[in-house]
Amino acid sequence: MADKIGLQMTSTENGVKLDRNLALDAGRVAEAAAIASWKFIGRGDEKAADQAAVDAMRTALNEMQIDGKIVIGEGERDEAPMLYIGEKVGSGKGQRVDIALDPLEGTTLTAKAMANALTVIAFAPEGGMLHAPDTYMDKIAIGPGYKDGLIDLDASPADNVKALAKAKGVTPSDITVCILDRPRHADIIASVRSVDARVLLITDGDVAGVIFTTDPTTEVDLYIGQGGAPEGVLACAALKCVGGQFQGRLVFRNDDEKTRARRLGLKDDQFNRKYTLNELVPGDAVFAATGVTDGALLDGVKYHDGYVHTHTLVMTSASHTVREMRMKRPV
Ligand code: FBP
Repeated sequence: MADKIGLQMTSTENGVKLDRNLALDAGRVAEAAAIASWKFIGRGDEKAADQAAVDAMRTALNEMQIDGKIVIGEGERDEAPMLYIGEKVGSGKGQRVDIALDPLEGTTLTAKAMANALTVIAFAPEGGMLHAPDTYMDKIAIGPGYKDGLIDLDASPADNVKALAKAKGVTPSDITVCILDRPRHADIIASVRSVDARVLLITDGDVAGVIFTTDPTTEVDLYIGQGGAPEGVLACAALKCVGGQFQGRLVFRNDDEKTRARRLGLKDDQFNRKYTLNELVPGDAVFAATGVTDGALLDGVKYHDGYVHTHTLVMTSASHTVREMRMKRPV
């Protein structure tokens, strides 16, 4: 049964919980994709890097005892032969789960050997994540510990900075805002700087950008800007586990994008809706990400001393557990 915002929410509303061992499997799947993309770091070939991650992630997923369906993946079936939206993965025998993934979040970062490329995957009970179309999304996010509604996508970036600074008991100049470095963000950057806050510009990778707000060591307080809608849902799966606030609104550039959204079950009157974290990921979730290149959250894949080394974050919403897994395996 679809709810009024287009989510298939029945199972989640019925309180279906994920098998908690899925989290460790999710970590293994993210690891496999990162190891496969390692050999393409710095080689200037985004497509080859992505393909290696896709192949490895799909193989690892198909080894899992799940009845899985990709709801956020590499694209629609006619444009993505693997990990396409609707593809069934896993043995078909275990728990029925929806899967959101980005086998390589930061294809350009990988091709250019730049920081913060990740492999990312999230699981939810069937119907537990918005089937976000491959459009842009306006996003705003903060980490945990603030009263609900402190930030608002419809307020100016300057006002959001001021509200957050007040809640933290600091001045706006003590606030750092992470923003994708794009010409479309010129007004956001100007608004943030108008109140003397710092801007941390990232060239790519806004799943990491949103997660930065939850990790004090990154010194990022606020994330604002327009990035991929699928990446917005993936970031929400992480926030659901670790805490924080998020608002997002789909942005359509043309009728074709609206048609794609309709095919995924969205109704026209939902196109302009402001989604909260709990609307994008209403129930249980697990999230895993492995570093491909070194970054603020995770170390990248390394080969030395006859071993391959990986660094993975694994999170579960049911217990709000965050695990950091370091794996080494002989090569
Ligand atoms: P890919 O690695 O899949 O190319 O995505 C990288 C990314 O930076 C996302 O993190 C972000 O949401 C999106 O691209 C931004 O899109 P654009 O590059 O069109 O501004």
